[in-house]
Amino acid sequence: MDIQVIENTRDISCDALIINKFEDEPTTNELVNLFAPESFTGKSGETFVIHTQGQQPAKYVIAVGFGKSNELNGDKIRENIAKAAKKAIELKAETVALDITTDQTFGIQAGIGVSIADYHFDKYKTKKEHHISTLYISNVPEDTIKKCIPIVEAMNTARNLANEPAAYATPSKLAEIAQSFDGIETKVFESAQIQKMGMGAFYAVSKGSEEPPKFIHMKYSSPNPSKRIAIIGKGLCFDSGGLDIKPAASMLTMRDDMSGAACVLGIMKVLSKFKPNIEVNGIIAACENMPGCSAYKPGDILTAKNGKTIEVDNTDAEGRLTLADALCYACELGVDEVIDIATLTGACMVALGTAASGIMGNNEDFVKEIIKMGTFSGEKFWELPMWQDYRDNMNSDIADMKNTGTRYGGASAAGMFLKEFVTDDVKWAHLDVAGTAFLESPHREFGKGATGVGVRTLLNYILCH
Ligand code: BES
Ligand code: MN
Ligand code: ZN
Repeated sequence: MDIQVIENTRDISCDALIINKFEDEPTTNELVNLFAPESFTGKSGETFVIHTQGQQPAKYVIAVGFGKSNELNGDKIRENIAKAAKKAIELKAETVALDITTDQTFGIQAGIGVSIADYHFDKYKTKKEHHISTLYISNVPEDTIKKCIPIVEAMNTARNLANEPAAYATPSKLAEIAQSFDGIETKVFESAQIQKMGMGAFYAVSKGSEEPPKFIHMKYSSPNPSKRIAIIGKGLCFDSGGLDIKPAASMLTMRDDMSGAACVLGIMKVLSKFKPNIEVNGIIAACENMPGCSAYKPGDILTAKNGKTIEVDNTDAEGRLTLADALCYACELGVDEVIDIATLTGACMVALGTAASGIMGNNEDFVKEIIKMGTFSGEKFWELPMWQDYRDNMNSDIADMKNTGTRYGGASAAGMFLKEFVTDDVKWAHLDVAGTAFLESPHREFGKGATGVGVRTLLNYILCH
């Protein structure tokens, strides 16, 4: 979808013109007065569609309620515009224009809203979905839209990769994609090197699969970086559970267990377009968790890169094992901050549902800053506790720790496990996106499938520093 900023969207001949109305302002847009029935009150999310019968340059006018003007925020703008855009898509509109009356800056949220509405993973359908070809916007600075386009590109890259079947999005495929980005230096470590580097936890998880593991390190450099950070994405290209195999219903969507990796790839792909003044290391320990003949077993003792030993209590708690070595690697780079993003625990999904991702970390201000950036970006994060109680449950009789605790408080336990692999001088935040990365039914502006969660928050975080 192409986005064009023009002088006056009202005058352009297009398939659908989207206009808005506030509940508390009787005359927001004269087209509303001209076309809308009295029953259209402007309540948030309310829509109506009218064929203009040649009375306007646009074939259809789609009006959407924006609710009370003093309650408007970026999320409402994005969601409501996405709702109107879905109507336009149903009408098979190819050219869509926005004539939005609001004091707020709406450009980025509007552009993102339409793009989310227009996203379909239809690569494998012989009959493709209808797509909007051009979006016209006015009253928006040109550079706002220039920023919107790569954000959407990063999101769509992440969503496509997480939606792809595991047979396509293999560790090797992720490595190949990581090596194709402009302005990014990428190193890929193969199985033998992974073992030689001492990544005993990551390597163990990969052993049950025929697909070779890949440890991927992408680097965006800046000549005088104001700081150096690492973003790590959980890269389980498929999580069958391993020998502690998952039941069919739980395994069904486990191709999405590389959503964290997909987020990191999406971001690294577009970074050079923004040229931020910080160094960004994108790190993925990519593998599959399978119950093959050489699979790691419950009771095995693994040694992570920092020398700590782990008793395998459950082979389905594999994400934290791969992340343990990735966190050690990132800390050894001497970066100032590390953020990991992972579809880590069903427990986080139970706690927060699809409404918010979990966040934990070792520095209160750092965690708060990311939560704030999430709110600004349209992604919610909710802090979960990091209490010693959760760590105590993972004590092992024969190793430094076990990879799981009790049945309860699983998201916090996983957070406490990861903390063992982060050095104290590094600011660290862990994002658990198990509930938000992949939707089984539509939620707000998103349809079923991958959401690209984390892309907007982390990209904005990078761009704001
Ligand atoms: N990939 C799963 C977590 C997950 C669950 C992601 C549902 C998305 C949706 C993770 O590897 C896993 O299996 N976690 C286990 C941990 C348990 C064995 C301690 C879980 O949450 O059940
Ligand atoms: Mn698992
Ligand atoms: Zn997993």
